[in-house]
Amino acid sequence: MQLRRFRPGDEAALHRVHFSAVHVTAARDYTPEQLEAWASSAPDTAAWARRIQGINPFVVEIDGIIAGYADVQPTGYIDHFFVSADYPRQGVGRLLMDRIHDEAARLGLNTLTSDVSRTAQPFFERFGFRVIEQRQPVRHGVTIPNALMRKDLGRETDRRAGSATVQRFAEQHDDADDAPSYRS
Ligand SMILES: CC(C)(COP(=O)(O)OP(=O)(O)OC[C@H]1O[C@@H](n2cnc3c(N)ncnc32)[C@H](O)[C@@H]1OP(=O)(O)O)[C@@H](O)C(=O)NCCC(=O)NCCS
Repeated sequence: MQLRRFRPGDEAALHRVHFSAVHVTAARDYTPEQLEAWASSAPDTAAWARRIQGINPFVVEIDGIIAGYADVQPTGYIDHFFVSADYPRQGVGRLLMDRIHDEAARLGLNTLTSDVSRTAQPFFERFGFRVIEQRQPVRHGVTIPNALMRKDLGRETDRRAGSATVQRFAEQHDDADDAPSYRS
């Protein structure tokens, strides 16, 4: 498994990963109408290319095939986080999340945030993110519920994402820090 930055020419492969993650992996949590609004089967390829170039993600390859990608912006916002349904639960997401944490440390960020699908929320929780707010974004006229999640990096005693130490530390401190609406 290899991790690298996005390169021009990756756009079509990243679209395949995105489409697979949405239409296969996320299909258990959303209706066909929601999935189509989220990832169109007839995409605007030029707009997609601009979008992907703009977020400049990290990319994971397995045997030369792109299996997943994710970004982190200078604000700490994670815009895209997708692993192909051909490579589920093989550590691709963990490799990307660890790289995002390394990048956050390099940039001196205190917080990571993301608007996270129902499908990915347990994964983000596994890495110490907590739900801040349930959201109902509308895309192409269709509501696709997700949640704003946040991780405060300053709390970590062990920087490695998802470690038992981090989990225990977060669990002990969350109730005191977060508003009553936490995980509402
Ligand atoms: C969520 C997603 C990125 C996870 O990627 P992945 O490569 O399968 O995750 P990994 O194999 O690296 O898993 C890392 C850890 O998270 C856990 N995990 C992964 N998916 C999980 C899930 N759905 N529920 C609970 N735990 C999960 C794994 O068990 C593993 O835990 P461990 O360290 O104790 O073994 C992937 O399923 C996906 O792309 N989902 C659909 C698209 C989507 O919704 N993207 C997010 C948009 S915001």
